[in-house]
Amino acid sequence: MRGAAGLAAGAVATRLPAAGLATAAGKTAVRPVRGGKFLQGVASGQPSHRAITLWSKLSDVEQAGGVVLEVAKDSGFDRVVERRTVRTQRRSDHSIKTRIHGLDPHERYFYRFEAHGKSSEVGEFKTLPPPGSKAPIKIGVYSCQDYVAGFYTGNAGLLAEDDLDLVVCLGDYIYERQFYEPQREDKTGKNGDGEVQTLPEYRDKYALYHSDPNLTELRRRFPFNAIWDDHEVEDNYADEEPGEATIDPRVPFLERRRNGYRAYFEHMPFYPAGGREKKKNRFRIYRSVKLGHTAELLLLDQRQYRDDQPCGDTIPPTPPCTDAERNNPERTYLGDEQKAWLKRRLRSSKATWKLVGNQAMIMAFDVPATQPINVDQWDGYGADRAEIMATIAKNEIENVSFLTGDIHTFFAGQVSETGRQTVAGTPESLATEFVAGSMTSLGVPETINATTGVPLPPAVQAMVADEVFLKANNPHYAYSNTERRGYGVIKATGEKLEVKFRSPMTTKQPESTVDTIQAFEVQAGTPEVELV
Ligand SMILES: [Fe+2]
Repeated sequence: MRGAAGLAAGAVATRLPAAGLATAAGKTAVRPVRGGKFLQGVASGQPSHRAITLWSKLSDVEQAGGVVLEVAKDSGFDRVVERRTVRTQRRSDHSIKTRIHGLDPHERYFYRFEAHGKSSEVGEFKTLPPPGSKAPIKIGVYSCQDYVAGFYTGNAGLLAEDDLDLVVCLGDYIYERQFYEPQREDKTGKNGDGEVQTLPEYRDKYALYHSDPNLTELRRRFPFNAIWDDHEVEDNYADEEPGEATIDPRVPFLERRRNGYRAYFEHMPFYPAGGREKKKNRFRIYRSVKLGHTAELLLLDQRQYRDDQPCGDTIPPTPPCTDAERNNPERTYLGDEQKAWLKRRLRSSKATWKLVGNQAMIMAFDVPATQPINVDQWDGYGADRAEIMATIAKNEIENVSFLTGDIHTFFAGQVSETGRQTVAGTPESLATEFVAGSMTSLGVPETINATTGVPLPPAVQAMVADEVFLKANNPHYAYSNTERRGYGVIKATGEKLEVKFRSPMTTKQPESTVDTIQAFEVQAGTPEVELV
């Protein structure tokens, strides 16, 4: 094993031969933690072909101290390859996180934490294939798991996939307040109404979400990655501008945002990206995950650096936002640094598939034609969209596919420079997009009603629910389904991208069967979505 000095804050690498867990903490002279229970499970994340970040969290700690981590090649822990002590800290609420280096590529490992003689669950992960590997890659993608909106029958469906290289949450991992008719109780927050604003309140929210066995099992079984969208802080915020949905604002917005960001990293099995930039950008989440030669996943942040939504973030029936307002080149979605990074990665990636982990839809969502219904997505930031798509066109970058969350709806289709095609095939398709539904959060009409308090007019609701109408007004769509919840399973090979939209029959019951509602293929070299 190579040591991990300097990379894993709080971790003390020990190089002991396999022996009793209890001895390890003593030999590193770190006082063992006093008290503490592993109530939120374990997780692995930020995988590479050689490294992984391992996570857990202790509740009810009496005094901070060392927790022992073991990593082994077998579930019985006979072949231990790493044992180290990780210090918990009060300031991070005894979140346990450490990065392990020097692992073998594409190999399965098992890990567990131990505190005062009690072990956590045993987690498992497989490292990613090495650079140059043409091994197929399989990724589960999902978003929008509002705890009160339903049961995690979709998360359970993902668990039935036995060979995922990675699970990616594309945003709305938590919801900062209650938006929908509750199917389950959430009494977090000062007023016990589920609205969280302070750091301890956000921590309580994650603890609630991590009381769900389908979610914790997903994190235990597969390497987990995530990007945040708005609800990890507050509905529809934009950089330093708050959204408007808060019922009882008690904390200045920037403080609230910092609370949300801190709690996020305390509960996720990965560190902020950016390395040397860390001081400048303490909460950077945009980053790249290299999956052998087959794919590179580019994860974005469309909240932290964006300008405010145009036209007051209005929705129909208010007068439509003009093209000039939506496409104003003075307004940015990604911010200059992230946009330059994305263009650089797209141009220089050697991977066959450039998969973009994207919070909000890049294809236009026009209801009716030429009138975007949602200016919170790329439609409200047309200049940045045109710039990214022009980079793809000018450099003839092949096999770009956007994997998207946010809109609580399944879509698949073609991405042109303007995000829309006026007739099928025009302007030409440059990339594909798969919008993978939502785990529990309800569809567009219910969400607009819940977040704005203004119901979508019945005529517009009917248009949103009508797949024939949507396709006629958005010829860039190959598929839409606004009724079902669920997630996507993406398999990438050198020849093609295979995508399945999977959907539970219900999220209103704790258990459900899960079906493939539509399968797709994208042939390498052809930015067109084929229905299978
Ligand atoms: Fe959402």
